[in-house]
Amino acid sequence: MKVISVFGTRPEAIKMAPLVKMLEQTEGIESVVAVTAQHREMLDQVLRIFDIKPDHDLDLMRPGQTLTSITNAVVEGIGGIIEQEQPDLLLVHGDTTTTFAAALAAFYHQVPCGHVEAGLRTDNKYSPYPEEMNRRLCDQLCDLYFAPTQIAADNIKRDGLPMQHVYITGNTVIDALLTVTDRPCDLAEYGLAAVDWSKKVLLLTCHRRENWGAPMREIFAAVAEVAAARADVEVLFPMHRNPLVREAAKEAFGELSNVHLCEPLDYLPFSHVMKLCHLVLTDSGGIQEEAPGLGKPVLVLRDTTERPEAVAAGTARLAGTSRAGVKAALELLLDDPAEYAKMSQAANPYGDGTASKQICDAILEWSKKQKA
Ligand code: UD1
Ligand code: UDP
Repeated sequence: MKVISVFGTRPEAIKMAPLVKMLEQTEGIESVVAVTAQHREMLDQVLRIFDIKPDHDLDLMRPGQTLTSITNAVVEGIGGIIEQEQPDLLLVHGDTTTTFAAALAAFYHQVPCGHVEAGLRTDNKYSPYPEEMNRRLCDQLCDLYFAPTQIAADNIKRDGLPMQHVYITGNTVIDALLTVTDRPCDLAEYGLAAVDWSKKVLLLTCHRRENWGAPMREIFAAVAEVAAARADVEVLFPMHRNPLVREAAKEAFGELSNVHLCEPLDYLPFSHVMKLCHLVLTDSGGIQEEAPGLGKPVLVLRDTTERPEAVAAGTARLAGTSRAGVKAALELLLDDPAEYAKMSQAANPYGDGTASKQICDAILEWSKKQKA
């Protein structure tokens, strides 16, 4: 059976990498990797770490790309690859525009499609934007669903989708994380020598489209205010490559000596930074899943989350995007040891690191049923 794995952005690559490795080792499966390169440098970082050499690379990233331009290029490009490769199954991951458009290309070519990390929902069409609709539309187009948790599987059922091919597998992000956290890593090699780890290091990431503009300025102002007022904290912000994010960050943090802005980190040093930091402030999806396993409190810089498991586990809290709200949530964690202790209990609602194996087994089982 020929299986094409399609991905294009950093988080999809991290979460598909362990699955690609597992597919390569699975007897009866011919694994083909097609990257859209919706991200370029941030994708290549992950391909390097996991030693993946794509069979196809659409190389589509453009500065200032729009949702329409990405969608068009992916439908067209992945369509061409499907025609050339004639796969038995296409796999997509998560909720990016690559995800949705590749699933659409599979549908147009009547090729079965499997959705890895299926069933996440906020039930708010514009939050996160466009990811909530990307994943809902993708699920409508797919045939196999790999739900990371029971809650995600329940969401698929609620949408009235066929349940016979829903598999609860855990999240492949845990598989990925386990492959890097034990590898040795010298942070000085990654330009992080200036960070004073004897202080409380606040790890910040922020990139979401619905946070561009005013919400991002509010978030950064809150963090800058806390950093300026306290000698006991350092802020480390590996900035997303998007120029809109970088300009806003430079404007808000430019003058502060205890705020370190750096390039996106490779997954290996980033995982070590997550282990070493005091807490995480983020609007990222993947980091909300990784931090509970590492016992790091996460303030989610959003008004909604499709990861209620992390909130239920006690490690994640929605801090919103207002300056006052983010500042209050951050100060509470910095000043109240009981609150901090409560949120830094390690818990792992996203699986035991065997999701990729479970997905491969499910694909083989599905394939047998197709032939029967
Ligand atoms: C995309 C996904 C989002 C995901 C995020 C992960 C969509 C619509 N959005 O958002 O769901 O959470 O990736 O990071 O699918 N850029 C570079 N180099 C890179 C990556 C990006 O220069 O390696 C710049 C380019 O100017 C590009 C811009 O960032 O045009 C935006 O990239 P894009 O993929 O459109 O959106 P993200 O905000 O990264
Ligand atoms: N990450 C990384 N380097 C960084 C920041 C994040 O390797 O400098 C990893 C992080 O550990 C997580 C993933 O990138 O696995 C999250 O990607 P991102 O926040 O871009 O996307 P999202 O998860 O929000 O879709």
